[in-house]
Amino acid sequence: MYELRAVTKHYTRAKDTVHALDGIDLTIPDGDRLVIQGPTGGGKSTLLQMLGGLDRPTSGEIVLDGTDLAALPEARLTRVRSESIGFVFQAFNLIPTLTAQENVETALVPLGMKPKQRREQAAEALKSVGLGERRAHLPGEMSGGQQQRVAIARALVKQPKVLLADEPTGNLDESMRDEIMDVLERMWEELGLTFVMVTHDSVIARKAPRLATIREGRISVKENTRA
Ligand SMILES: Nc1ncnc2c1ncn2[C@@H]1O[C@H](COP(=O)(O)OP(=O)(O)O)[C@@H](O)[C@H]1O
Ligand SMILES: [Mg+2]
Repeated sequence: MYELRAVTKHYTRAKDTVHALDGIDLTIPDGDRLVIQGPTGGGKSTLLQMLGGLDRPTSGEIVLDGTDLAALPEARLTRVRSESIGFVFQAFNLIPTLTAQENVETALVPLGMKPKQRREQAAEALKSVGLGERRAHLPGEMSGGQQQRVAIARALVKQPKVLLADEPTGNLDESMRDEIMDVLERMWEELGLTFVMVTHDSVIARKAPRLATIREGRISVKENTRA
């Protein structure tokens, strides 16, 4: 469970200060499925980075299961990130010189797993996103939708507590968008994880139990009665 208290993030450029997050209070219970929407520049990606421990807030607390990520020493923050948090980005962020299988395995390396188990678990994750036959392919040899499925397998292979997805269909054309949404919806239903997704996709938003809107660094959350 996440408990965010009075979280701010300010970026200073020249003599301008951007209040990317301007006092966020938010509770995300275990197993929650939260969709975040809002205009460009509103602070959505910044919030996801804070939830994922990729960056630290200017002030406030980001408590995950009793631990304030904002105050953790770097080495422990890295460990929380590699053990507990899966991230899916708009731009896939695969390593171009590694095969699909090797890309997924990179998520298991920090966990100190034996190579054989790593191989098996990565192969299994690729199978679960429908890419069992593409394990030896490089990212450049796959469609955008397939690359994003590899990224989803990489995020989920370590069985994280939390999956964070930042506009995962933003770089895809319509048919591939459906492909990724199908995979994410299935993961949403099958795995009991806490799932926070920034998306403009109305299909997924309609199915989310809770919908948040971030505008000018402030958040409002409403229960989605249609879900
Ligand atoms: N690394 C950065 N340095 C300076 N300003 C940033 C940085 N990251 C984001 N911002 C600014 O913070 C605000 C929120 O950005 P962002 O979280 O990316 O919004 P969104 O994802 O909702 O489009 C924007 O005004 C953006 O320009
Ligand atoms: Mg963004």
